[in-house]
Amino acid sequence: MKQPSIGWCEQIAPDEEAHLARVAEVIGKLQRVKSKKFGTGRALHRKQLVAATGTLEVLDGLPDHARHGLFARPGRHRVLVRLSNGGPDVQANRLPDIRGFALKVLDVAGESTLGGTTDHQDFLMINQDHFSSPDSREFVDFIEAATSGPLPGILHLFKAHGPVGGFARLRTLFTALGKKFNGFAGERFNTVSPLCCGPYAVRVRLKPVGSPPPQARSKDIAEDMRERLAVGPLHWDLELQFFVDEATTPIEDASRSWPDAETPVVTVARLTLPQQGVDAAAAEAEVASFDPCAGLAAHRPLGEVMRARKVAYFESQKGRGA
Ligand code: HEM
Repeated sequence: MKQPSIGWCEQIAPDEEAHLARVAEVIGKLQRVKSKKFGTGRALHRKQLVAATGTLEVLDGLPDHARHGLFARPGRHRVLVRLSNGGPDVQANRLPDIRGFALKVLDVAGESTLGGTTDHQDFLMINQDHFSSPDSREFVDFIEAATSGPLPGILHLFKAHGPVGGFARLRTLFTALGKKFNGFAGERFNTVSPLCCGPYAVRVRLKPVGSPPPQARSKDIAEDMRERLAVGPLHWDLELQFFVDEATTPIEDASRSWPDAETPVVTVARLTLPQQGVDAAAAEAEVASFDPCAGLAAHRPLGEVMRARKVAYFESQKGRGA
């Protein structure tokens, strides 16, 4: 097992400013096209499945390298959770998709990444431990092509990467979308893109605690959560997975998993969603902004994908009047 290291660094491409302008343009267009069809909503992760409120308890006795920002002191925070399908469409939950777990931690006080102070820290996680592409460029190219439908998106992959590369990327995409999903109560979630924990770099993860309760289960992933939360609480451990070195835990290649066996992982908090009717928080979560780039300076987002997301989320928030 390697030790946590503060030896991470970010790389900024010379043409990044032009690329970020393109990110805003592509995300804005995607959102306009889809909002025309489905009504006002997010550019991605449009379909909200479940919203819930609960608490995050930051644990006592954490090691020094974990004790920064939100995790500097033990305590309890209120949270708002939005569970979603990842795509820009409103489609049936049984269709393959990335699943999103957005967590807004409230009752926070500290210097914000955007300047001034902030009262919250958001963690946006998906049911994958790596992204579909190393940086946002390939992703944004694909989104641009796929805005008018899945077929142009697929054709774009072959045009941009040739027959072999196109097929490889298509396979990666289908593997990610088709990954078996055991429901939000039984799956791990991961921020995939790194962020700071003080001077360290980490990925943040959620791990369900214990076995999900064995009550009657519907096959629909939203219904499943509704049924579970109607009868009792659900718990997850919030973990920090630490950067060790560029080869093992790359900052700038989001398509790589950070291997568990070689990285220190610290459980820093316990998320609890108590028994509740989930519709109570639905309206609040739908209009809320969950944003990985607007939290505590101690948890500043890292890497190219995060810089592109800063622009993308701002554009999407503007487009839906958030
Ligand atoms: C790499 C890891 C990524 C993760 C873990 C992630 C996760 C998420 C999650 C969980 C949401 C739903 C937030 C909510 O419920 O309000 C979301 C929304 C969104 N994501 Fe990402 N995402 C990633 C990358 C990207 C990239 C590369 C882009 C574009 C360049 C992007 C664009 C968006 C947009 C536009 C939204 C909607 C924002 C809003 O209107 O509130 N994401 N993402």
